[in-house]
Amino acid sequence: MRRMIIAGNWKMYKTLEETLVFFDELSSWEKDFRHENQILIFPPNLYTMSCLEKTRGNDIDIGVQNIYFKDFGAYTGEISPPMLTSIGCKYALVGHSERRHIFAENDEEINRKILSLLKHKKHIVFCVGEKENEREDGYTEQVLTNQLRYGLGDVGEKDMQQITIAYEPVWAIGTGKTATPEIAQDAHAFIRNWLKDNYSSHVANKARILYGGSVKVANCEGLLIQPDIDGALIGGASLKINDFIEIIKKGEEVANRKDQ
Ligand code: 13P
Repeated sequence: MRRMIIAGNWKMYKTLEETLVFFDELSSWEKDFRHENQILIFPPNLYTMSCLEKTRGNDIDIGVQNIYFKDFGAYTGEISPPMLTSIGCKYALVGHSERRHIFAENDEEINRKILSLLKHKKHIVFCVGEKENEREDGYTEQVLTNQLRYGLGDVGEKDMQQITIAYEPVWAIGTGKTATPEIAQDAHAFIRNWLKDNYSSHVANKARILYGGSVKVANCEGLLIQPDIDGALIGGASLKINDFIEIIKKGEEVANRKDQ
């Protein structure tokens, strides 16, 4: 049984004050809520230390939304894996579609980021996903194959323990157009099969693959119950404390059902 993850990617939202209020509420609720699933939030990088502070003593993990692959140097505006170590942050998101498409990150840079984070023993949530026209033209599997092959270049079998994959179809991000559970399950099964063919059955069975793209309270159950979906990476709905808590609760119910 793979431990599911309910993750929130806040992107560039919330002031510090709003962030602290959210974590006060989440932390005090979480203390009294027994959960098997992992809770992981990627707030804006600027607030990482405050969020780590706020969640100390809680079973809530905090990560950054992006890093640069060099350790230190003249790279204005960037942060690095050793800096994460220095503040006690263990998680990073890599290859989000907004990084790929707005900031023109390519597979090679994404791969360098993954290798750098692995060198510094971080846990990585590595995002992949096709654009709408790529799906319409029948290239979904080709796009996923390329993103996996190049993104995970030189990543060894043992390192795969540190990597969670997030399947986020670009056409479903922030659009309200969620993938149907069947479409999402098919893509997840394809990714798991790719891991089996390119690593091993062991890696494929252990790897956690999250779905992201317009996940909401109303649709999370149908997605999370799918056999190859091991959690969610939630944008908009993770910004609202009540919605995020509801999704965590539903995730817990689904995990119990899958366990039986
Ligand atoms: P939405 O849930 O807002 O569609 O965002 C998904 C996402 O990009 C998470 O990384």
